[in-house]
Amino acid sequence: MNPVLVLNGPNLSRLGVREPDVYGTADHEALVALCRDTGRRLGLDVDVRQTDDEAELVRWLHEAADASTPVVLNPAAFTHYSYALRDAIAMRTAPLIEVHISNPAAREEFRHTSVVAGAATGTIAGFGLRSYQLALRAVAELVSENEDSAGQTR
Ligand code: DQA
Repeated sequence: MNPVLVLNGPNLSRLGVREPDVYGTADHEALVALCRDTGRRLGLDVDVRQTDDEAELVRWLHEAADASTPVVLNPAAFTHYSYALRDAIAMRTAPLIEVHISNPAAREEFRHTSVVAGAATGTIAGFGLRSYQLALRAVAELVSENEDSAGQTR
């Protein structure tokens, strides 16, 4: 099974109690189970991590770049201002999908800017926890396309 990192930024450990009208009632543990289960069906070995610490996210992105591991990243509030995260994403050596549970474009003005989007492979937002499932599906397709084209050149 191909490894994938699912990285969640600040306050996402509070899913379930945090603004349930915006983020739903499922907690972070349920999100972990959903991602692992979705990954298993897609042939992906999913490692889900959460941190409130920008430096830790940067270190995990370096780890992913060194191992060429695809990433599904919800940078949470860092989306809107972390140039450190953007620079780390710019070093990626495998697909990186930015995800959001809510649709930031439909919310407050400060959420309309993503400083990381331009360095990501693509962005999926607004589908609730399904955003993660869609992102994992995109990763599975990209990984298998990559394997197919590597096979053809051999
Ligand atoms: C979020 C959207 C961000 O604007 C917010 O700061 C979050 C969560 C989302 O998943 O919808 O923490 O990334």
